[in-house]
Amino acid sequence: MTLRPNARARAVADSVTLAISAKAAELRRAGKDVVSLGAGEPDFPTPEPVAEAGVRAIQRGDTRYTPAMGTNELREAACTWFERTFGLRYALPEVMVTAGAKPALHMALMSVLEPGDRVLLPAPYWVSYPDLIRVADGEPVVLPPAPEQGFVPTGAQIAAAAREHGARGLILNFPGNPSGAVPSRQQMQEIVDAARAHELWILSDEIYGTLIYEGEHVSPAALARERTMVVNGGSKSHTLTGWRVGFLAGPEEVIAAAGRVQSQVIGNPSAISQAAAVSACLTDLSAELQRRRTAYDQRRRFLVERINRIPGLHLRPPQGAFYALVDARELLARLRIDDVALCQRLLDEVYLATVPGTAFAIPGFVRLSFATGMRELERAVERLERFVRG
Ligand SMILES: Cc1ncc(COP(=O)(O)O)c(C=O)c1O
Repeated sequence: MTLRPNARARAVADSVTLAISAKAAELRRAGKDVVSLGAGEPDFPTPEPVAEAGVRAIQRGDTRYTPAMGTNELREAACTWFERTFGLRYALPEVMVTAGAKPALHMALMSVLEPGDRVLLPAPYWVSYPDLIRVADGEPVVLPPAPEQGFVPTGAQIAAAAREHGARGLILNFPGNPSGAVPSRQQMQEIVDAARAHELWILSDEIYGTLIYEGEHVSPAALARERTMVVNGGSKSHTLTGWRVGFLAGPEEVIAAAGRVQSQVIGNPSAISQAAAVSACLTDLSAELQRRRTAYDQRRRFLVERINRIPGLHLRPPQGAFYALVDARELLARLRIDDVALCQRLLDEVYLATVPGTAFAIPGFVRLSFATGMRELERAVERLERFVRG
């Protein structure tokens, strides 16, 4: 007998972003001076009070199993944080703790998808969504990207796709990775109205919800809480990336089901990280978080200014998150290559790591992360200019 992975596991794709990071690391090991704008991880450390709360948890011996849905202390702190930060009012049974936003998405999909259910996925989308849907036996239906609409689908487009495909659900991610898009209240209202008219549930990934430079964050949960599951956490805002802690909020019955799935699959999120997350929710870190936002904003403006001066490249200012989605279609037509080949050549020829739009279902575009210092960004832009002009 030969042990083989099943069809479901075989269908799960390797992460393109991880593959690029691996290639960049390999070049670095070979002594090359690689500049990487590939990773979506803040360059700031975990804020000290949060890290210290984790250390104290270890010293106190808070290192045991916790309830599967998280400690009551953190679930309560999360309710406070949701309300203070986004004006979303949840009671404790409507919020659970997970080991990061990614598992929150997984637990939510495992709890609401019936086999074969179709889920609308507006492109460009974050790389993991199609695989997360497939793992839960659903079927992704990709809506074509609409750069001319600022990467935000209209209610009419959602409605038409829901009708055509008989979809059951919709994944939203605003501020978007990779788009940086932040819909207006009116745009979000139209999307939610379409979801309501077509009986779609909404899974709203709001992990970048506090990283906004233009506009305001409007959660679909504020408009249609009965059909919305919200994913959030401190990975991007508080650099809790390695701590693995996040939240899922929504109707009590779904959260209870997601909690049962989690109890069987992972047990509980790390007790230590949960103690740190209580501090992230309740400590006043507004000055530090504002400092970070200001730094990202400065980098964003730098990229918009410099990229738009490079022939064949166009960058619409991202309104949130920390990614610049560069329209390279003109340059690609001139070079007669696609975005994957462009990113490959940028890495091989000028040692600049970027991510091709194809990974996010938006070919012709390239994603640059600005979760990296100004010096690195300056070096990156110089290399991009050198490549294009050379
Ligand atoms: C849109 C989006 N959702 C979720 C995640 C994963 O977050 P976490 O590290 O909390 O699992 C990321 C990380 O890149 C992301 O960009």
